[in-house]
Amino acid sequence: MLTIKKKIAAALAEGIKALGAPEALSQEELALMLEYPPDDTMGDLALPCFKLSRTLRRAPVQIASALCECLQGLDCVEHAEAVNGYLNITVSNAYLLSDVMGEIFEKNTRYGGSDVGKGKTVVLDYSSPNVAKPFHIGHLGTTVIGHSLKKLHEFAGYDCVGINYLGDWGTQFGKLIVAYKKWGNKEMIEQGGIDKLVELYVMINNAISGNEEKGIPADPALGDEARAEFHKLELGDEENLALWRWFIEISLEEYQKTYKQLGIEFDSYKGESFYTDKMPAQVQKLRDMGLLKIDDGASIVDLADYNMPPCLILKRDGSTLYPTRDIAAAVYRKNEYNFDKAIYVTSAGQSLHFAQWFKVVEMMGYPWYGELVHVPYGTVSINGAKLATRTGNVVLLKDLFKAAIEEVAGIMEQKNPDLENKDEIAEAVGVGAIVFYYLSNSRIKDINFVMEDALNFDGNTGPYVQYTYARTCSVLRRAGEQTGEMKITDKDEAALLKVLAKFPERVQAAIADYEPSVITRYILDVAAAFNRFYHNCPILSAEDESVRATRVAITRAANIVLGNAFPLICLKTMEKI
Ligand code: ARG
Repeated sequence: MLTIKKKIAAALAEGIKALGAPEALSQEELALMLEYPPDDTMGDLALPCFKLSRTLRRAPVQIASALCECLQGLDCVEHAEAVNGYLNITVSNAYLLSDVMGEIFEKNTRYGGSDVGKGKTVVLDYSSPNVAKPFHIGHLGTTVIGHSLKKLHEFAGYDCVGINYLGDWGTQFGKLIVAYKKWGNKEMIEQGGIDKLVELYVMINNAISGNEEKGIPADPALGDEARAEFHKLELGDEENLALWRWFIEISLEEYQKTYKQLGIEFDSYKGESFYTDKMPAQVQKLRDMGLLKIDDGASIVDLADYNMPPCLILKRDGSTLYPTRDIAAAVYRKNEYNFDKAIYVTSAGQSLHFAQWFKVVEMMGYPWYGELVHVPYGTVSINGAKLATRTGNVVLLKDLFKAAIEEVAGIMEQKNPDLENKDEIAEAVGVGAIVFYYLSNSRIKDINFVMEDALNFDGNTGPYVQYTYARTCSVLRRAGEQTGEMKITDKDEAALLKVLAKFPERVQAAIADYEPSVITRYILDVAAAFNRFYHNCPILSAEDESVRATRVAITRAANIVLGNAFPLICLKTMEKI
């Protein structure tokens, strides 16, 4: 409704002029003041006049009725009415048919998008699993929220760089090398892939720290061995380097399968290891600026003035830490991409880490510190059970997907046994169900996964909206060419077009709040409005040529909007289910 808001705001600005206060509010401000009333008996848009009362020195009721006058005769307005200090506005059918539908067809695959980001670059750091540790459902958030934010920004015209900042460096590789040399061999990893690597990683952790439950005694000497192997790796030992590269390759192959299921591709896989030689310069800069303090042998940046614990830069033995690497990576990315915004998507558990090193970047005098954005999200549990890490008792993302895909395949076998490309569709629906369920929630809220709810074909789920999209395709396939003058004859036609008109605003809101769930919920609004229209308004069986043509056109408009919205939340569109 952006275009109509502008038109109405222009007329209102004239009205305000007539009330003797031409400077009181700009058209833009007025457009922003237009609200969507809670229910449609109050019209489609409303202007609350209370805020205007002081500047215009009149009672809200008076303002509402005066402004109501100036909307008479606007062809986009069907009806305007002043009620208790509100100006309620009903959009005209002529506007819905010509402007809303016209814009959808004209912009087509770009409808909902914009060029507000033109010429600007956004770098997004997301997914970023730690190699050799399990890629578990805790990573679902960073992976799908991150990718949604990338798609949303692209849709708004930004140049986007998706970075998978792989956790491909650190003492875990020392552990893995020890475990491999002790218990592993080439064939075993070649066959077992990442699962075997994770198994080895769990075994070595249990062996180092002990595991009472399993009756494994602690063997700290193994920890020393692991540190020694990692040190060799750091010094460039050929054998360890080869193993390290191999472990990463195997892990990446596995991640790619998951990314492919989600339709995700990255522009860069520069992981933590890439920044090893980029850190000393930043550490030196900190030292030169007098920002480093020695605390119990470690080098820190004191953040007491900002009510935060110190940011750790170097351990006692001089080795670097997580924040050190993030600072070096940010500087590198600024130089490499000259970003206007750098977004980091991680669990809320890392919020302090980001607040700390963002502050350090500011203290270092980098003028772009304000362009760094941390986007946190809540925890995930499955059927009420919290996730344990390290002990190996985790739910892997691929297993969650697999379970959903199998479940869907079973349901489809019953519902539609003759469907072509069954496997492909079961995968898209199963994975889509998980993603949709996950992204239905505000990202910061903790979420409990209930598989049954996610897969319910009749609930507000991924399968339901994918099915709705397929339904629009089926109507359009059968419709062929339709001609006739457009006319709206049913309130459900108008109601659907009004929902479709809101898409561009929802995209902007999702970007402003870094909140993909805005799109998920919007998709549900479209699906609900389309299904109401579909059930109440015969489309192809409508007798009147004009009615038929209009309903097919409305279906096409809904098809375009859903088709544009799905990829914004990693959901695949399928013409048949
Ligand atoms: N690898 C980290 C983890 O799994 C996430 C990395 C997030 N990105 C960053 N630049 N720190 O916890």
